Amino acid sequence: MLSASEVCYGYAGVSVLREVSVEVGAGSLVAVTGPNGSGKSTLLHVLAGVLQPKSGYVRRQAGCRVALLPQRTPDIDALPLTVGECVRIGGFQGFFRRSTASSTDSIMERLGIADLRRRRMRELSGGQRQRVLIAQALVQQAEVYVLDEPTVALDAASRATVHELLGEKVRAGAAVVLSSHDPEESALAGHTVHLRAPAA
Ligand SMILES: Nc1ncnc2c1ncn2[C@@H]1O[C@H](COP(=O)(O)OP(=O)(O)O)[C@@H](O)[C@H]1O
Ligand SMILES: [Mg+2]
Repeated sequence: MLSASEVCYGYAGVSVLREVSVEVGAGSLVAVTGPNGSGKSTLLHVLAGVLQPKSGYVRRQAGCRVALLPQRTPDIDALPLTVGECVRIGGFQGFFRRSTASSTDSIMERLGIADLRRRRMRELSGGQRQRVLIAQALVQQAEVYVLDEPTVALDAASRATVHELLGEKVRAGAAVVLSSHDPEESALAGHTVHLRAPAA
């Protein structure tokens, strides 16, 4: 579905990823682990096609759509978006490819954000906001879901719901790539890419 081969990436000459390879197959969950600053977010952005590798390559199967949940999304708070609008943006992918309203409603219900639909994004708590962004990513009809520390701000019940939703995606044949510091979460993965601590 999606693969990276010997990918190198750096910022302003400082090397972050050194020859990282990963294979993301249909119906699989891949975890990216490693300490702060080890390059997890960078690798996810390279896999999602947001960053171009300096060397090595990323291959995406023809027609493979990628949904990305970034770790940091400060720009959203500057927009006067409601929760409902924010989730629907994820579902809207052109006239013939709209997620059904019922699937959007069901994901919002399950993530406990249906009652917040008229609230503005900037008025939410960290955990509420994160659940909205997870819903926005998961309502997308994608072959690969790339999620950067998706459950870091969530309580145990919400984390369990997210894991259930991800399990459903994987069983339906999609791939999930997530970064995590939670050993229980990375244990859900069939394969783990561990990035090493940055050189001091
Ligand atoms: N936009 C950027 N400009 C310069 N350096 C960056 C940028 N983004 C990340 N870095 C640096 O790259 C390294 C890896 O960052 P990141 O991929 O965010 O790691 P992680 O997600 O594992 O914490 C860090 O040392 C970080 O400071
Ligand atoms: Mg990160």
